[in-house]
Amino acid sequence: PEAISVSNLAKLIGERLAPFEQKLRVLGIEYTTHDHLLNAEEASLIAMEYDLSPVVNSEAAIDLYSKPIPNDMSKYPLRPPIVTIMGHVDHGKTTLLDSLRKSTVAAGEAGGITQHIGAFSVTLPSKKTITFLDTPGHAAFSAMRARGAHVTDIVVLVVAADDGIMPQTIEAIKHAKDAGVPMVVAINKIDRHDANASKVRESLLAHGVELEEYNGDTQSVEISALKSQGLDVLEESIITLAELSEYRAEVDIEAEGNIIESQVERGKGNVATILVKRGTLKQGDNIVAGTSWCKVRLMTNDKGESLKEALPGTPVKVMGWKNLPKAGDEVLQAKDEELAKIVVNNRLLKEERERQIKDLEVINEKRRQRK
Ligand code: GTP
Ligand code: MG
Repeated sequence: PEAISVSNLAKLIGERLAPFEQKLRVLGIEYTTHDHLLNAEEASLIAMEYDLSPVVNSEAAIDLYSKPIPNDMSKYPLRPPIVTIMGHVDHGKTTLLDSLRKSTVAAGEAGGITQHIGAFSVTLPSKKTITFLDTPGHAAFSAMRARGAHVTDIVVLVVAADDGIMPQTIEAIKHAKDAGVPMVVAINKIDRHDANASKVRESLLAHGVELEEYNGDTQSVEISALKSQGLDVLEESIITLAELSEYRAEVDIEAEGNIIESQVERGKGNVATILVKRGTLKQGDNIVAGTSWCKVRLMTNDKGESLKEALPGTPVKVMGWKNLPKAGDEVLQAKDEELAKIVVNNRLLKEERERQIKDLEVINEKRRQRK
């Protein structure tokens, strides 16, 4: 392992020796004389205290990063839009997802058993595909956004026509606006005798959603999730919106994506659903997510079929994770197992250092209070 002297590190960081030694003692480093040699871990810890990335040139700095987005996306193929369904409690989100899912099973492989995974794709008669995220709920959506995971392209806002705009409807509108994600409004439960779709449309305007009927550009569709009415119109609205935005992705780079959900499954171990966003995920690839990694041996689609590769916009279930990655974690490919292991190890060390710094801050705070 590499080492650096106290005085050299102070120089590199650009701090005078006295305050630097003081800082080291606060960090719990005992020997602070100018010629004392610090190991890579100590040096990284100190560098982080000075808000620098690790200055020590060693494996400790190795990590994986998302590739820069090309300026001109127009030459890359289109990918399916990724859609999240949001709305107030009991307005019919789950029923809608179930109906959408069922319609694919019926159209695709009649009698086929659809697995419940956190995302699924619907292929329309026009052969166009839409990928729906199944987990969300507002908490999950916020958590993913807070962690910088931009997973959704389009939000379908479900509003029950008998109930109208409710607190979580307003919250969902805010989420979509904050995320800069376009919206399609699904006015649900229109089969009910007390449904009042025009009232819903009117009150949406009051909450800053400008529907086409009011010369705005947000589409609304009347549906009955329960009776599977209007779903084709809803799907067409989503496709229309997607075609305006032209979601494209590179297919020939290393795979990038996000964890949608993860769980331990009996006989299968740690299993995670990944939504591939860029590149192609192939069998045999080594991927890292958070502080876990996995060699992709078996991956299946939402119909339980085994896949050799997954293109952008495809949700896949992958087994073989060393430990459980978290929903929202960014998935990045490592060129080999060794790199995957180094990256995970570095991230664990970094977490440990951050914990140590937090602990020290707590201790120092307590000391200050005692004085
Ligand atoms: P939470 O997950 O609790 O937020 O609810 P949700 O939005 O997923 O609603 P869910 O799909 O569970 O539906 C709530 C109730 O509304 C259920 O009893 C559904 O059967 C009923 N429901 C959903 N869609 C329709 C519809 O189109 N028409 C009618 N009449 N009932 C519906
Ligand atoms: Mg539900």
